[in-house]
Amino acid sequence: MTDDNALIRPPQEVLDEANVQDWEGLLATAGADPVAFWEQEAAELEWSKPWEKVLDDSQAPFYHWFTGARTNIVTNAVDRHLTTARRNKLALIWVGEDTSKVRTFSYFSLNREVEQMANILRSMGVEKGDVVTIYLPRIPEIYFAMLACAKIGAIHSVVFAGYSSEALNARIDDSESKLVITVDGSWINGSVFPMKQIVDDAVKFSPSVENVIVVRNTGTEVTMDPTRDHWYHELARLPIAQGHCETVQVDAEDPLFILYTSGSTGKPKAAVHTHGGYQVHLSSTMKNCLDIHEADRWWCTADPGWITGTSYVIYAPLIRGATAFMAEGSPVYPYPDVWWQLVERYGINGMFTAPTAIRTLMRFGDAWVTKHDTSSLRILVSAGEPLNPEAWRWFHDVVGQRRCAVIDNWWQTETGAMQVTSLPAMPKKPGSAGKPIPGQAVAVLDEEGHEVPPGTDGFLVLKNPWPSMLRTLFKEPERYVETYWSKYPGYYLTGDSARVDEDGYVWIIGRTDDVIKVSGHRIGTAEVEAAVNSHPAVAECAAIGLPHEVKGNAIHVVAVLANGYEGSRELVGDIRSHVSEHLSPIAKPEAVEFVDKLPKTRSGKIMRRVLRARALGQDEGDLSTLEND
Ligand code: PRX
Repeated sequence: MTDDNALIRPPQEVLDEANVQDWEGLLATAGADPVAFWEQEAAELEWSKPWEKVLDDSQAPFYHWFTGARTNIVTNAVDRHLTTARRNKLALIWVGEDTSKVRTFSYFSLNREVEQMANILRSMGVEKGDVVTIYLPRIPEIYFAMLACAKIGAIHSVVFAGYSSEALNARIDDSESKLVITVDGSWINGSVFPMKQIVDDAVKFSPSVENVIVVRNTGTEVTMDPTRDHWYHELARLPIAQGHCETVQVDAEDPLFILYTSGSTGKPKAAVHTHGGYQVHLSSTMKNCLDIHEADRWWCTADPGWITGTSYVIYAPLIRGATAFMAEGSPVYPYPDVWWQLVERYGINGMFTAPTAIRTLMRFGDAWVTKHDTSSLRILVSAGEPLNPEAWRWFHDVVGQRRCAVIDNWWQTETGAMQVTSLPAMPKKPGSAGKPIPGQAVAVLDEEGHEVPPGTDGFLVLKNPWPSMLRTLFKEPERYVETYWSKYPGYYLTGDSARVDEDGYVWIIGRTDDVIKVSGHRIGTAEVEAAVNSHPAVAECAAIGLPHEVKGNAIHVVAVLANGYEGSRELVGDIRSHVSEHLSPIAKPEAVEFVDKLPKTRSGKIMRRVLRARALGQDEGDLSTLEND
C-alpha cells in the first residue's frame, strides 16, 4: 500500500544548490502563460534566425513550435561550446564493459569526431532529410553518429542494439534508410553479441540500403560485403573524412530523428521529433527538473535506442554543456557493485536510471553500495515505469545516503522529454511521479471525457501542447490523429491510467492499451504474438503482462497449439527462445501456457483482459461479449 500523504522534504544541501529554489513560483508563472515560459527558455539557446511565432496551433493537432526559426541541435549541443571555456572541458567520459577501457573527449575533440563522421556520411551521399539507421551499442560512436546525422540535416533512426534481424529489418524498410551504422559486435556480460551478423541478415531483404558502416568494437571476425560494407576506421583515414564540416542550419520544424516504438498493432510506429522545440524542452528540463550544474558529471544509464537515452544520454547534457558519462556494461557484470565503483571513480553527480535496475541492485543488498564512496551524488533520477515506494526509499536512503534528491519523472517516446516530475526542491511522495512540469497541465478523465475527482483512477491526458511533442507518426499522419487526439479532442491521450491526489501529485497506474512495460522496455503484445505465432507449433496465441517483483511486468503467453503438437516443457523452452531470437531477448516470455481455446469476442478479438484476470485469480468482469461455443 502507498501512503499518498507521506511528504519527504528534500535535504537542505539539495535545496541550497537547486537551480530552481522557488518551485511553486516557477510552476505558477509557467502555468499562467506556458507559451511565454517556453519562449523564455528558448532564448537561452542559439538560433541563426529568430522565430516568428512560438506556437502555431492553427493546424492542431499538428502543432508547430518556433515557426520561421532556423537552428540545429548540434549548434547548441556542440558548436556553441567551442567558443567558450567549455571547449577544453570533458564532454564525454566513456568506460567499457571491461572498465579498464576508458575513452574521453573534450568538447573540442567531440566536435572533431562528429565532423569526421559527418564528412563520411556526406561522402556516401547522405543528404538533408535522408534517414540513417543507427544500430550501435553504448560506445562513443553512437554520440558521433547521432550528432553527425543531425549536423548535416539527416534524420537518425536509432534501433535498440538488442533487437533481432527481423525487428531491425522492419525498421530499416519502413524508414527506407540508405545507410546503416553498426559494429562488429557488442559486449554483453563478457560475451560477444554478433551485431554485424544481425545487420547482414536484416539488410539481405532491405532494398533501400546502399552502404553499411562498421565500427570495430569487439574485434570479432565478420563478413564484409565489398560492395556495401566499410570499416569506419578505414574510412576515417581517407581525405574525404578530413576537415571542417559546417553545421547545416535547418528549419526549427525539420525532423531531427524518428524513433520506433510499440503500440497496439504489430507494426511499430515511429514518432517524429524536430530540431527546434525538442532542444528547448531538453534544455529546460535538464536545468529546472534535473538540476544540472556547470561542473556536473551526468550519467544516464539508458540506451540511446530508447527515448530516455536519446534525450538524456545524448542531447540534454551536451546542450547544457555538462560532462556526460557513458558505461557500456550492465549493472551486475562482473559484480553488482560495478555502478557504484564507477560513481566513486568518476565522481558522478547526477545519475538517471530505471526502476528495474534499482530493484535488481537492491536485491543484492546494501553492502555492495555502501563499501563505495558515493558522496559525489546529488541527484538521483528514475523513469520508464513506476518507482515503487520500497525501491524509492532504497535509492534515497542507501544510494543517496539521504543527501540526494530522488526525482521520478513520467513521459513517453512520443512526448520526447519529461512531462510530470518532482522538481528537486519539491517535497516528494515516494511512488508518485510528481507534478506536471513547468508549462504543462494534466487531467484524469473518465470514459466519457469528464474530469474525475482527486484520488480517482482514469485516463491520463496532457492538456497543453509542448515543444518536444511528436509532430506526427512517420508516414502515418492519420494514425497520429487517431491514436493520440481522437478519443478526447483537444487533449493528448497518453495511453496510461493514473490518478491525481488532493495535493496535485500524479500517481501512474499503468498502460490502458496493448503495451507492456517489461523492465522499463516498451513492448507491444502484438509484436510478441507475431513472434510466437511464427513458431510452427503454435496455431494462435495471446500475450499479456503480469506483475513481476523486479521487472515491473513480465510477459506471459497463452497459446493454442497447431494440430499434431503436444505441450511439453521442451516446447515451452523452444517458444521462449524463438521469441528471443525473432524479436529480442528483452521480449522473451516469462511463461508459456497451452490452452484449447482463447477467450474471444464475437467479432474474433482476443480478450486479453479475461486472460489477465484468470491468471491473477480475479473476477473476469463483464463477459457478455464473449464468443459462445
Ligand atoms: O506507461 C508509462 C511508462 O512508460 C510509458 C512510455 O514508455 P516509453 O515510450 O518507452 O518512454 C519512456 C520514457 C521515460 C508510459 O506511457 N512510464 C514512463 N515513465 C514512468 C512510467 N510509468 C510510471 N512512472 C514513470 N515515471
